Amino acid sequence: MNDFYASTVHNRINSDAESTRQRYRQRIARELSWMGWREEAIAGKTIFDVGTGWQALTFIELGAREVHHRDLSSAQVDALNREMTRRGIGNLHSRQGDLCSPWDVDGAFDLIFLLGVFHHLADPGAMLEQALERLKPGGSLYLRLYRSGTWSRWLTAHLRPVAATLSPSLMERVYTLQFPLELQRDGSFLGNMLDDLFTPVWGAFHPETFLHNAAFAGGSIKTEEDRYHWDFSDRDENFRVLFTRSPQGSTADRATRNQHPVVIAPVDQRTLPLTDPQARRIGHLLQQSMDALLEQSHEWERACALLTLYRLVRRFHGLSYFTLSRPEPSSISAFVGDLQRKRLESLEILLQRWGSSESR
Ligand SMILES: C[S@@+](CC[C@H](N)C(=O)[O-])C[C@H]1O[C@@H](n2cnc3c(N)ncnc32)[C@H](O)[C@@H]1O
Repeated sequence: MNDFYASTVHNRINSDAESTRQRYRQRIARELSWMGWREEAIAGKTIFDVGTGWQALTFIELGAREVHHRDLSSAQVDALNREMTRRGIGNLHSRQGDLCSPWDVDGAFDLIFLLGVFHHLADPGAMLEQALERLKPGGSLYLRLYRSGTWSRWLTAHLRPVAATLSPSLMERVYTLQFPLELQRDGSFLGNMLDDLFTPVWGAFHPETFLHNAAFAGGSIKTEEDRYHWDFSDRDENFRVLFTRSPQGSTADRATRNQHPVVIAPVDQRTLPLTDPQARRIGHLLQQSMDALLEQSHEWERACALLTLYRLVRRFHGLSYFTLSRPEPSSISAFVGDLQRKRLESLEILLQRWGSSESR
């Protein structure tokens, strides 16, 4: 299973190298800016990176002294090693490895960079402990991860048990048949869908979880959104965390660590304490629909229903999903302002129609 990403989510990533390179360059620039680092700050740094290898290559392009790269997927590591040979890069070291096992790397880092990785780890606490121990004084650990309590994470969590009865290749086939032109234009919807529905470990976290672990870091912690529990808004479904070890030196000593062990667990999205009565009612309806789908013996029907619902996660900006109340152009902004209600309404109507067509 360790090549899940290379064969599904990222299988188109190397087909247009130049545009992928530019996309990653922009992404790193955006994330460095949130961290409060200038791009020039990467020059001379020792960095640990995880993923497809494109982030690692970007850090090399920005002048990093040395980059150590790891990924669970040997296919991605092989592809990166080929690219390094082709470009004659000698200061990037890429090896296959599981971040939750003891790290097979010596030395300490100025930056450990995990974008889109943390929520896929089977033992995120074990990873966090090891990462924090490998920061140089003043060094930083950056995480970007799924935020619990958003509309998209909530809906996806309900869909995953049904996805577990299907295969990624069937979902890809259904999508390719229904949206061939969209796929030709951009493969990101398909990649996101396969990631969300099929990746073996998929968690969503609350920023407070990280604040609780700040004492362990022996330094400072910066995160976004420290006070929310539930949110159907259009805000980003990810959040960022930056642990920075104090420049004076050590991570927390053993006594502090024993007092504040790393405790980190994903939030179960399906049992969130919803206070909004409409969301509670729809959550119940959604669960009933998922139970009914699980009993549906035709896998194509299960796959089509799943695709329709998943499009509410990623294509909710498309007004076509809200044709029941398509706005006049003059009232678009009021309509968009009310999107979260409309989105819930659409989901409710869709589920009710499915329910009534099944009972006929
Ligand atoms: C959604 S991708 C994010 C990739 C990253 N943003 C990039 O573009 O390079 C998640 C990555 O985490 C890797 N991964 C998942 N679990 C892992 C683990 N336990 N140890 C190491 N890598 C892991 C996957 O192989 C995949 O490349």
